[in-house]
Amino acid sequence: MQILENYDLTKLNTFGIKAEAKYFTEINKEEDIPSLFESEQFKNNERLFLGGGSNVLFTKDFDGIVILNKIKGIEVINESKEDVWIKAYGGEIWHDLVSFSVGHEYWGIENLSWVPGTVGAAPMQNIGAYGAELKDTLVSVEAYDISNGEKVIFQNNECKLGYRDSIFKNVAKGKYFISAIVLKLSKVEKKNITYRALKDYFEKNNINPETIKDISDAVIEIRKSKLPDPKIIGNAGSFFKNVFVEKKELDILLEKYPELPYFEEENVFKIPAGWLIEECGPARSTISWKGYRVGNVGVHDKQALVLVNHGGATGEEIKDLALQIIDSVKQKFGLILNPEVNFV
Ligand code: EPU
Repeated sequence: MQILENYDLTKLNTFGIKAEAKYFTEINKEEDIPSLFESEQFKNNERLFLGGGSNVLFTKDFDGIVILNKIKGIEVINESKEDVWIKAYGGEIWHDLVSFSVGHEYWGIENLSWVPGTVGAAPMQNIGAYGAELKDTLVSVEAYDISNGEKVIFQNNECKLGYRDSIFKNVAKGKYFISAIVLKLSKVEKKNITYRALKDYFEKNNINPETIKDISDAVIEIRKSKLPDPKIIGNAGSFFKNVFVEKKELDILLEKYPELPYFEEENVFKIPAGWLIEECGPARSTISWKGYRVGNVGVHDKQALVLVNHGGATGEEIKDLALQIIDSVKQKFGLILNPEVNFV
């Protein structure tokens, strides 16, 4: 294990924001974790564990140690007639795990195809898309406790997984190094194709999804059509979380905005933040945020939830735009948008 100094993070965050870490190291095997924990640079500095860098906004240089988890490996650890238990290490690319599962016809994460980032970062925010969440297939998370170097296993219910949320973003924040996860997938067909956008895609294209690959391919297609490719235009996927309101609040909003879209989920109502943003715009103007650009930053023209770096933007510029968007949505709808992206 090598610890480098003044390390450029531009290529390690999908926003492509230029920032430096005071210290930087890559962990390639589990056996390196103890020596990382014992190093002076780790003990005496703020730490940031980085996966694919697809959910982070650097607003300044990081005055601590950045640790990149590169521990690889995907293995079947148990099997029954109907199910299979897969262990995947934290440094694996999430979509590679999906491809492995789709290739073997193990059902459960095909709707999470093409989600950027790594396996180790997936439980942090309980990744979710097209009607599936990590929560649905996760058995356990293996992690190292930074305070004593011991390996701990969190069972699914101990991870406190919620909408884009987990214990690792709250009370356990910064306290564990996630080394691997275990998923339980189904060898028996388990189609999950009720999510509106997915259903619409199959209908529109006259496709009758028969195989797991049909579903995975459709999800990839939809994602590619709506979300900008970070290799071409810097972004971190959805910048904000969707908003959840109670029935009472929804009714008040509907009276004023009858066209407001909403989706019922377990007695609360999800309002798509993308719609709210599309309905708002910069102060003292009548234009929409969707497709808006100021200097190097902007709002994606096909999905208003996504903020983009058109090239050379700073994290502060993105943050400034995000704050203006939050303010405009609050002014018009009285609703508070919360960022999904972590500010560093
Ligand atoms: N909508 C608009 N305008 C927009 C975008 C969305 O009006 O510019 C409205 C439409 O009414 C649409 C609804 O939002 O019917 C839902 O849109 P979509 O299915 O695209 O999903 P989303 O709520 O915008 C969420 C996730 C995405 C995930 C998709 C698909 C969050 C914050 N985002 O977006 O996750 O891929 O659902 O399941 O929950 C990510 O986390 O980075 C991400 C891309």
